[in-house]
Amino acid sequence: KDSLRELGQKVGLRIGAALNPDLLGTDAAYTKIAKQQFSTVTPENVMKWEVVEPAKGTYDWSGGDKLVDFAHANHQRVRGHNLVWHSQLPKWLTPDGFTTTYSSAQLKAILKKHVQDEARHFKGKIWQWDVVNEAFNDDGTPREDIWYKAYGNLDYIADAFTWAHQADPKALLFYNDYNIEFTGPKSNAVYSLVKKLKARGVPIQGVGFQTHLDTQYPYPDLRANLTRFAALGVYVAETEVDVRTFTKPDAMNTPVDGVHESAQVAYWSRTIQDCLSVKACISYTPWGFGDAYSWVPGVFAGEGAALLYDEQLQPKQAYTVIQQDLELA
Ligand code: G3I
Repeated sequence: KDSLRELGQKVGLRIGAALNPDLLGTDAAYTKIAKQQFSTVTPENVMKWEVVEPAKGTYDWSGGDKLVDFAHANHQRVRGHNLVWHSQLPKWLTPDGFTTTYSSAQLKAILKKHVQDEARHFKGKIWQWDVVNEAFNDDGTPREDIWYKAYGNLDYIADAFTWAHQADPKALLFYNDYNIEFTGPKSNAVYSLVKKLKARGVPIQGVGFQTHLDTQYPYPDLRANLTRFAALGVYVAETEVDVRTFTKPDAMNTPVDGVHESAQVAYWSRTIQDCLSVKACISYTPWGFGDAYSWVPGVFAGEGAALLYDEQLQPKQAYTVIQQDLELA
């Protein structure tokens, strides 16, 4: 059977995965799947600020460069992730991860330098940049992180998009968030933001729906939501898809029962069908591909099995279903 990337190509949809460059070339099975199955790749961690500037003014682009080189060699595009976020910030900027001793004026200058330096470093090599990640709380209020506090409002977002565009005019610039798959206060807040940014002429070209789903919650009204965002004149993408479920107490990546396993497979199928049904949906990216490497069990105790391949990197039923959905598209 054809790979996901080949099937995606036939219908004009890029299929992606978040990757860890440390495993490329060191884990043969991982590397083979990464090459064969995907036509776009996202760095799971190595383009984040704490990695690229561990000490103030000292850059380490090695992980990002390795990923970009791998992508180039394998005719894959890159989703840059990310330029502005509240999490995984360097210790010199926020020792406790929440507060900083820099003044507002200093923070604005630091943010500008970071966005420009990183976007310039990867200039011409990034298809889509997640310029701003997760700026809202689940109730739709702005997340009061160091950027929000420095500005006293959300204007850091417009600044970041403007700086990123100046540094790399050809990259498609995205706002990316989780829990915006369904309509509700958070996706409404993002919708209003995008509408305002577009009205002000701020260079934003896309919205990324992370799509970290869980079978204990109802399937979101994702298709309707993708459709209304697309109507604002932006691309949309599913950027970090995974579907976690309850797992057996003694086997963290084995679904607790067949009911949960079937629900999981059905959710996966719907995520890709929703993207396929919306013309503006230009990429579909699961957040990694092997259950052994997924972030889920470490964060949600008792849940896992969230990806398309099992711990031994064997494709699961969810993989077969995605393949079929692409074939039938
Ligand atoms: O690199 C260090 C290592 O040196 C250390 O020994 C080890 C001990 O904890 O930690 C390692 O860092 C970990 C890092 O991943 C790299 O593996 C961090 O602890 C861990 O917190 C970090 O988790 C990442 C998480 O973002 C941080 O928020 C996950 O891998 C990554 O999948 C996850 O990705 C996010 C997206 O960027 C944004 N959307 C949500 C998504 C899932 O949380």
